Amino acid sequence: MNEVLLNIKNRRSVRRYKSEQIKREELDQILEAAISAPSACNEQSWFFTVIQNAELIEEISSKTLEEMKKSPEEWIVNMGNKCKSVFYGAPTVIVVSGKDQGYSPITDCSAAIQNMLLAAESLNIGSVWIGLTDHYFKTQHNYKEILNIPEGYSAFYTVALGYKIDNRIKEGPKKNREVFTFIE
Ligand SMILES: Cc1cc2nc3c(=O)[nH]c(=O)nc-3n(C[C@H](O)[C@H](O)[C@H](O)COP(=O)(O)O)c2cc1C
Repeated sequence: MNEVLLNIKNRRSVRRYKSEQIKREELDQILEAAISAPSACNEQSWFFTVIQNAELIEEISSKTLEEMKKSPEEWIVNMGNKCKSVFYGAPTVIVVSGKDQGYSPITDCSAAIQNMLLAAESLNIGSVWIGLTDHYFKTQHNYKEILNIPEGYSAFYTVALGYKIDNRIKEGPKKNREVFTFIE
């Protein structure tokens, strides 16, 4: 298998991190990978807020968990009670926002996120795509000011990044292979 395919196969969501910060040149390569993603009409309808301030990371996490505990969905309440941090102690968190009037902002941002996750894996940096922070974005009305998000953009997802505590390659979740059809 070539390096790209190996990275795709070996990437896992990482939920245990060292507190040591990732190197600036590694972060730059991950951000470069983000903006190298395809985007509808090449609109590049994304914006990235890189947070390396431990206090702000903790504040977003604790407010997210607080909101999760108010959810009508039981599994979210349970996760809110069980989880210590939605970022699992990662020292870098990237908020990914999309252009409100874009052609396909969620798809563009998702392509950028997947590129970041694969770039991180190629550098042996752990990562996880976080959707739960939506509970924070939907309820904290001043989040755009706090996160320097430009006018006309809204946050969709966050990505946690950091060195892995456990470097062993893990087997991923079982995949449904009954999802292909071939028309020849
Ligand atoms: C849109 C999206 C949202 C996700 N949100 C979270 C999240 O909030 N917290 C989390 O721990 N993992 C989250 N994940 C990671 C998935 O749980 C994970 O990708 C899935 O279980 C498969 O595991 P793998 O990434 O190791 O292959 C999210 C993934 C996606 C694509």
